[in-house]
Amino acid sequence: MTASQTQPHASRYPAGAQAFPHRDLLGIGQLERHEILFLLDEAEQWVDLNRQRQKHSDSLAGLTIINAFFENSTRTLLSFEIAGKRLGADVVNMHAAQSSVKKGETLIDTAITLNAMRADAIVIRHGSSGATGLIADKVDCPVLNAGDGQHEHPTQALLDALALRHALRERGQSGDDFTGLTITICGDILHSRVARSNLLCLQALGATVRLCAPPALMPSGIEAMGAQVFHDFDAALDGADVVMMLRLQTERMSGQFIPSAREYHYLYGLTAARLAKAGEGALVMHPGPMNRGVEIDSDVADMIDRSIITRQVEMGVAIRMAALDVLTRRTRGVAGWRETA
Ligand code: NCD
Repeated sequence: MTASQTQPHASRYPAGAQAFPHRDLLGIGQLERHEILFLLDEAEQWVDLNRQRQKHSDSLAGLTIINAFFENSTRTLLSFEIAGKRLGADVVNMHAAQSSVKKGETLIDTAITLNAMRADAIVIRHGSSGATGLIADKVDCPVLNAGDGQHEHPTQALLDALALRHALRERGQSGDDFTGLTITICGDILHSRVARSNLLCLQALGATVRLCAPPALMPSGIEAMGAQVFHDFDAALDGADVVMMLRLQTERMSGQFIPSAREYHYLYGLTAARLAKAGEGALVMHPGPMNRGVEIDSDVADMIDRSIITRQVEMGVAIRMAALDVLTRRTRGVAGWRETA
C-alpha cells in the first residue's frame, strides 16, 4: 500500500484534527460531517480494487476479525467477511444460533470471551438497541456496529451515501455532498435502524430528508431530528430526487401494525406509476432484503436506469473495507488515527 493510500485526506479535516478520532464505529450519530466524508473517500480505493481481477490487499495481514452476528444477515455478514478477507485479515464468523448464547451466556460474558481471544476488531449485529455499545465498553479492540435493534446501522448509511454519490457523479450531478437533494425514505420507519442512520448521514451531507410511513410505523417526535414527516406517500414523493424503500420489519412487531400486506402495498408500495410522481429520473434505493410486491414492485426494483440497489451491495464491501482499515490503523501503527483530545 502506498503512503497516499494510508494518509487521511487532510483537506477534509478542520485544522488540528488530522485523523480519525474514534476507536469504534457505533453509529452515524458519533460522526462529524468531515469524518463521514473521510470514510467515503477512503472507500474509493477499495471500490477500485474490488473491480480488479486481483482483489487482495495485505494491509490487515496477521489481524483477526470476529463477526459476531446475533441476528440473521445475508448482505452485511457476507460483505464484512469479504471485506476482512480482501484486506488480508483472518476472519471468523460467530453465529449466535450455534454459540453458547443458546446455553444462556450473557452478552457481557460473550464479549469478554471474544476479547480474551485477542480479536483485533469485532463486528456485532444484535437485536437489542445499544448492545454494540455495551460490548465496546468491555473489549480492548475496535467494535463495529453491524446493526443494533432499532438504533443504528452505520455502515449501511455510509454505503448508501457512497452508492448515491457514485450514481449522481455518473450523471454529472453531484459534488461532494447532497446539498439541494430531497430524499424520501418510505416504509417501517419505527423499527428501522437503517432509517435512523440514513436520516443522520444524509442530513449531515446536506440533504433534505422526508420520512413516510403509516402513523403506527412512524416514531413519535422524529421531527425533532430534522425530518419532514409524511403519511401520504404521493405527497412525500412529489419532486423527490431519491426514493429509499424499507421492508416491514415484522420480526420486530408485536401485534398488528398494518391491516394487510395488500392494503400496505396499495398505500405505500413503490409502483412504476407512483415513481412517476417523484422528480424526473429519481433514483430508487433499498437496503435489502426486499419483499417484492409489498414495499416495492419488481419492475421498479429492476429498473436499469433508476434502481441502484445492486450498486448499494457493491459499495457495502468497499465501505466495510474502509471502516476496518481506518479503525485498525492504531493497532497497526499506521498514520490516520488519533486519540480523542
Ligand atoms: C437491514 C437491517 O438488517 O437492518 N438490512 C441490511 O442490513 N441490509 C434492513 C432490513 O433488515 O430490513
